[in-house]
Amino acid sequence: MRVSASPECVEIPLGERSYPILIGSELLREPGSFDAVPAAAAALIVTNTTVAPLYGERLRTALGGRFRAVHMLELPDGETHKDWPTLNLIFDALLRHGCDRKTVLFALGGGVVGDMTGFAAASYMRGVPFVQVPTTLLAQVDSSVGGKTAINHPLGKNMIGAFYQPRLVLCDLSTLATLPPRELSAGLAEIIKYGPIYDMRFFDWIEENIEALVAREPAALAYAVRRSCEIKAAVVGQDERETGLRAILNFGHTFGHAIEAGMGYGRWLHGEAVGCGMVLAAELSRRLGGVDAAFVGRLSALIEQAGLPVVAPALGAERYLELMRVDKKSEAGEIRFVVIDKPGSAVVRSAADALVREVLAQCCAA
Ligand code: NAD
Ligand code: GLY
Repeated sequence: MRVSASPECVEIPLGERSYPILIGSELLREPGSFDAVPAAAAALIVTNTTVAPLYGERLRTALGGRFRAVHMLELPDGETHKDWPTLNLIFDALLRHGCDRKTVLFALGGGVVGDMTGFAAASYMRGVPFVQVPTTLLAQVDSSVGGKTAINHPLGKNMIGAFYQPRLVLCDLSTLATLPPRELSAGLAEIIKYGPIYDMRFFDWIEENIEALVAREPAALAYAVRRSCEIKAAVVGQDERETGLRAILNFGHTFGHAIEAGMGYGRWLHGEAVGCGMVLAAELSRRLGGVDAAFVGRLSALIEQAGLPVVAPALGAERYLELMRVDKKSEAGEIRFVVIDKPGSAVVRSAADALVREVLAQCCAA
């Protein structure tokens, strides 16, 4: 394992919508990092009040030679602001600055900023180019890649959105140095996810390197980000709009989204809810015959070592079922889960409410 001096590049293979993911250290200090960005008169950096003071000027400087005007918008920070009024602030800024349909949007921040900026880019003047500059581990290994954009609705998470691909994803690993430990753990959840659903050799590697990852050892983080992006690229390249295979990337998310919504957005981090949700989804997989108890124990131990909760909150089984029926995978009111059919492989299927109640009874706090 080594950290290469020049950035690594993973390509998302989507025909004319293909784009590179650049992964490396100090990429934000390199104007050359942005060579794939289309030419335009203006750029709008969309970030938030936490990330702007850390990396806003660095990005503005890197873009200075490329655009006549580089505007910056600071959104309020947090999942609770992933909503219509905050989205509207992006449209307000674009219109106030007289931005045309070539204006390039840059999403500088975590998944919240990335999802909202992407949705704004998809709809401003029916679509303008955008670039993802993810600064959380979760965003670098998952949310910035693959073109899912959305805001939340009070009745359900990520319910309003669009598929819209960025032109470039720039993962500057140096930005992870300032990430709070809880946010680092949240990102580890999405990295761990790729093992049971796709690549058990990667799962073995994560187990061997979990301490190095928690300690932010650069070579370990670089490999984990690259392998995660490779797996996501392979899945999205086959099923961009989630007509089938892509749904496996939602392993743990059906339970996880219910935890997030049921607790109130922002109380549990998305990655924490997904981490815990994977324990429940693994237990459901066991009851459906896909994996054994040893596998569930192994996954649960790794999630705990990553600093994530493994006991689900006691929302009550009926509340869980009600929340999970709003999930985007539901069909005609029937909840569908991503379950492991054998280690390294996942499928989407329904499960009887009675079975789900058993899983909840076993995995939720008393
Ligand atoms: P986030 O965007 O809320 O960021 C977490 C926190 O870290 C925020 O307070 C943020 O300001 C701060 N932060 C960001 N970068 C920092 C840095 N380098 N140093 C210090 N602080 C920093 O949360 P997240 O975990 O990045 O993303 C979660 C969101 O992503 C959820 O809304 C989820 O639904 C979405 N998501 C989307 C996809 C997708 O495919 N589009 C996939 C997974 C998750
Ligand atoms: N995070 C799930 C997906 O991109 O499909």
